[in-house]
Amino acid sequence: MKRYLVQTFGCQMNVHDSRRIEEVLGAHGYEQADELAVADVIVLNTCSVREKAEQKLRSMVGTYKGLKALRPDLVIVVAGCVAQQEGDQLLRRVPHLDLVIGPDNIAELPALVESIRDGAPPRARTVFDLESPRFLVAQPRKEVTSFVTVMKGCDERCTYCIVPYTRGPERYRAAGEIVAEIAHLVEGGVREITLLGQTVNSWHSGGSGEGESEFPALLRRIALEVPSLLRLRYTSPHPRHLTEALIDAHAQLAILPRHLHLPVQSGSDRMLKRMLRRYTHADYVRRIEALRARVPGLTVSTDMIVGFPGETDADFEATLELVREVGFVSLFGFKYSPRPYTPALKLEDDVPEAVKDTRLQALFAAVDEIQRAHLQSLVGKRVQVLVESRDESVPNRYAGRSERHELVHLEAPEGLDPRGALVNVEIVEAFKHSLHGLMEGGVYHAPAPKRAAIRLPMASA
Ligand code: 5AD
Ligand code: SF4
Repeated sequence: MKRYLVQTFGCQMNVHDSRRIEEVLGAHGYEQADELAVADVIVLNTCSVREKAEQKLRSMVGTYKGLKALRPDLVIVVAGCVAQQEGDQLLRRVPHLDLVIGPDNIAELPALVESIRDGAPPRARTVFDLESPRFLVAQPRKEVTSFVTVMKGCDERCTYCIVPYTRGPERYRAAGEIVAEIAHLVEGGVREITLLGQTVNSWHSGGSGEGESEFPALLRRIALEVPSLLRLRYTSPHPRHLTEALIDAHAQLAILPRHLHLPVQSGSDRMLKRMLRRYTHADYVRRIEALRARVPGLTVSTDMIVGFPGETDADFEATLELVREVGFVSLFGFKYSPRPYTPALKLEDDVPEAVKDTRLQALFAAVDEIQRAHLQSLVGKRVQVLVESRDESVPNRYAGRSERHELVHLEAPEGLDPRGALVNVEIVEAFKHSLHGLMEGGVYHAPAPKRAAIRLPMASA
């Protein structure tokens, strides 16, 4: 039996693609390897959105050189965005690499691996499936929550972003196919679906992305046609497509939780313009307010970039101002990193690293404060949790997410396994990033106090 090992970097799209890689190899008789030493095929599914991830890839591929020298029949594959971006060049730069494969060519992987094993020379296969886009169907696994791709690629041209280059233009999956995949996963036990796409809410039923997005209609169709689905999330939407119709869908569909992850990137209009985001600080706030007026108590999280070229203290202050205005309860913050092929490369990366660091820390501190106050305000309240996993270290303790995406650890009644169920939880304590509570009928065990991080020296006898 041949064995594979897939290592994943980057975003949820990559995590999702890695599973498809595992499935296509599985369908061709491969088994998952527990460790590197026994793998016949190693796939590195890469990310190039920020510089760090790419550096990590280069050093990892380097470490496989020795392994390949010991076992020349080992097949080393680079997949994902770095593969798409660099293609043949990567083969030239890394001589012990066998295959470079783009995100749209995953289905071809088993045949390509076989050809390499049969002695074919290293090759790169990075062709976008523009004519007839392919969306590999996800196989059900034993899990409560799962991802389903609805579109791929991106037609935006945010000036800092390499994604339009590595993932190509927008292509949409047919609604019938999406609904069928969700229904199949739900039959297999999945209770929550997160729809995936680079600009997920720009979804259209036809080939062309012109005119207003039809994403709200897709949400309605899923809610109607898969009644046993408990929750429907989506990531990542573009603020431009948070339309009136989408706000209506949020107000009307109980299946949509009261949480939205809506990347904003900056609170400064000058930066937003340079980033080509096509909305202003005020537009963003207005849309969130309109949504909150219809969905009271909705929580919002976001992505933010600090230190984009030309960002001044005043620009960053506008970002902090936006954080306070919207009250983001969590945030992915990044230091701007110049990427190849992006329009922003023409701008000088003029914000010193130390300033980027300071701004990022200030941003995290502002969001932490909001998050802490928000979680504290829930103590004594009852929240609805979709239970996802069991905490192996404590009997009867489980974890899940509330409707507003708070992470909740809960005590379940003795002998009851609530995984996959929506349960009511009385919140007893708030921690820095999570809540702790009691499911109806459960017994509260206060978490053990944290041990000191530094071990004190033992007293000598
Ligand atoms: N530098 C820093 N952050 C970036 N992102 C995308 N491109 C860059 C870049 N060049 C961030 C954005 C995006 C998230 C996935 O990564 O915030 O929403
Ligand atoms: Fe990149 Fe902008 Fe497209 Fe998001 S919307 S993938 S940030 S170009």
